[in-house]
Order: sequence, then C-alpha cells, then structure tokens
Amino acid sequence: MKVCKTIADLRSELSAFRTTSKIGLIPTMGALHNGHLSLVKAARKEAHVTVASIFVNPAQFNNPEDLIKYPRTLEDDLKKLEAAQCDFVFTPEVDEVYPSKPEVKINLGPITNQLEGKFRPGHFDGVGLVVSKLFHIVQPDIAFFGQKDLQQFFVIKKLVDELNFPIDLHMVATEREASGLAMSSRNLRLSEEEKEEASLLYKGLKKAQNMLLASSEVAPVKLAIAELFDQSARLELEYFEVVDTSNFRPLDKVVEQSKTAICIAAEIGEVRLIDNLLLIS
Ligand code: PAF
Repeated sequence: MKVCKTIADLRSELSAFRTTSKIGLIPTMGALHNGHLSLVKAARKEAHVTVASIFVNPAQFNNPEDLIKYPRTLEDDLKKLEAAQCDFVFTPEVDEVYPSKPEVKINLGPITNQLEGKFRPGHFDGVGLVVSKLFHIVQPDIAFFGQKDLQQFFVIKKLVDELNFPIDLHMVATEREASGLAMSSRNLRLSEEEKEEASLLYKGLKKAQNMLLASSEVAPVKLAIAELFDQSARLELEYFEVVDTSNFRPLDKVVEQSKTAICIAAEIGEVRLIDNLLLIS
C-alpha cells in the first residue's frame, strides 16, 4: 500500500493504471471502522485499483467544535487499510486541498436544505466541494459511499449527474453493531452505556418500517417514535422523517415504497448520531 500526501504524487502513481485498470475511490474522513472497510471490500471486488482518501474536510463542518473534536486516528487507519489490501491512500493536509480560501461554491439545491442540511447549514455545499475536488484529483471509474449517510449519497448522485462526472456510484449497506447501532466514527466518543442506549435509533427505525409496511400513514409512526424516545433519559430526538429519496422532502403518506426512506437523528451527550432505513431494499 502506498501513502500519497500530495496531489502530484497521487496523480503520478495513478497515471500508470488509468488506461488499463478500473480505479475505485473510497472517500473518508478517517477514524475508520468496519463500515469503511466494507467499502474497501466492495471496491476491491468492482475495481482493479483501490484508492482511499483520508481528509477531515473543514468546509463541511458548520460547527467549529465538531471539527476540532472529530477523531483523528491516522496511524491506526493506515494499518486497517493495509490489512484490507487497499492499494493507495491519499492523506493530504488542509493546505494541499485548499491552498487558499475557495471561491467556487457548489450548491445542489433544495435537497441540501432538508434533514441534515437543515440542522447543518452549508454542510452539503462543503461535501459537494470536496467530493468534486477528490473526483478531479483521483478521476476514479467508481466511487463508494455508505448508506449510513443516505442523503449525502443522493446529493453526490446529483453532483455526478449535473456535472457529468464519468463515475459510477455504489452505495454500500450500513454495517451495524450486534445491538443494531450503525457503525460511525462518532461512536468512538460514546461510553459503552451510551452505545447501548443509542441502539434505540435502529429499534425506532425497525418499528417505523414495520408500521409503514402495514399502513402508509406517517403521523401515527411519528407519534410512536416520539413516545419511544420520551422513555430515554439520555437520547434527544432531533428529527424523525419519512422521505422521498429523490428530494428528501418529508412525506405524510408513503406513495412509492421503493423511493421511500426513514431517517432519524438524535443526540446523546454532545454526540450527534444519524441513521436510516430504506422502506424496502
Ligand atoms: O462521508 C464522509 O466521510 C465525508 O462526508 C466525505 C464523503 C468523505 C467527504 O468529506
């Protein structure tokens, strides 16, 4: 596995593979867990050369505290990627990606103002910017993203469609702890007890999924989820919505099951967690 810190180095390494091999990119912000490693596994299956990037992107943090507290575990991450047989890792410093304050703005419209966009204003603009940069730097044939950030996946899909990036996107299913808790870099900030309690997000999603498969009305489901979270002393429900995946607008009634997702966000202590399920997969 080769680690490249600069754009020039990575480009020169990849140039030998461009014409003959499929390049697979796994963009990450590090603090790698099994969810990321399942992306590497998927990339190794679909591409000849796998490139992971590790870059904590300041542009997507609307909360400066969150940026400071974001876990950084580079040495450990590299060991995990090596064991997962990743070929290249791009680990740029902030100055390499943003040599000056970027003037280009990427805004992908109303989908970015729903759910996560509402709670984290500007977040998806920052994601759109850095992912565009990574796509230009790496020029992958395929890029891999986790379902855990479902809205992010659909925002990036819009970016690829509207800016004609010649890149296939693959969404990889969420990896979960035995309790159902979705794996996330933020789980590193939770105690064992908090982790146990946080599995309520998944329990809520499963309950909602069962209710919505039996009846398409959303209001009773919202009520049931609010009651469930009222029983938890530590978890603060931020949002629970049933959405149309084409625009992430909340629905009052399920119309097309195959385009419906159930999304949830909650805070435990100072840690914000999100999760989702597609109504049918
Ligand atoms: O999902 C993430 O870790 C980040 O949002 C991404 C896609 C690597 C962009 O910084």
